[in-house]
Amino acid sequence: MVAVKHLSYVESEKETRKVLLAFAKSIQERDIVTYEHSHRVAVYAQRLARHLGWPRRDAHDLALAALVHDLGKTWIANDILNKSAALSAEERRKMQRHPVIGARILIGCDVSSFYVETVLYHHEAWNGQGYPVGLKGEDIPVSARILAIADVYDVLTSQRPYKAPLTVAEARERLREGSGINFDPRILQAFLHLLDINPNFTLAHHQCAASLFEACTSALYTMSTAGFEVYPSKSHSIGRHKSAHV
Ligand SMILES: [Fe+2]
Repeated sequence: MVAVKHLSYVESEKETRKVLLAFAKSIQERDIVTYEHSHRVAVYAQRLARHLGWPRRDAHDLALAALVHDLGKTWIANDILNKSAALSAEERRKMQRHPVIGARILIGCDVSSFYVETVLYHHEAWNGQGYPVGLKGEDIPVSARILAIADVYDVLTSQRPYKAPLTVAEARERLREGSGINFDPRILQAFLHLLDINPNFTLAHHQCAASLFEACTSALYTMSTAGFEVYPSKSHSIGRHKSAHV
């Protein structure tokens, strides 16, 4: 009986991974910038989760969620998605629907609530001023709080049509300013510590180029691959299940 249960768990894990990787591929087809960003965010989030003491399996699940965190953007119109100037209030409102759209797509595929909630809440802010719900503090799932930091760090260090990339030191300072406002202070502290102890933490943007989809994807799951694994730190221990939402 136990063996049968385990088999069905493994099968559903496999199915989930297949579904999420198919969605990651669809993001690649639709918007290469978002796709490459998602890969880097997945690596950063996975490293941070391990640093916080998460077991490998949980950190791996978080990386999968990060790969599709902006899935909802595939349903946003091109003129908004690719606009190089600042968005109008109405355009911003439409853009800010992407966590809800992504979560609805995942609910339709019957993936576990962990993935749905991580995607849905990745733009919530520690002070309750985020979106789409305005959750505050520890009401935000831990997974989404980790993802939010990884997400913003990659945006800050990336070239975008409307901005030059910040240096690591500049991005570090910008994140620090958001402690207790945008970000969970304890998780942010762990992330800043990771940056400090790993001079090569920040991924070069060619490392997940489109042609490397399979290589990057398999590397994401090869946890022992150099540079992808960071050993858990007891001092920063924040488990996956500390929030009521996970
Ligand atoms: Fe997003």
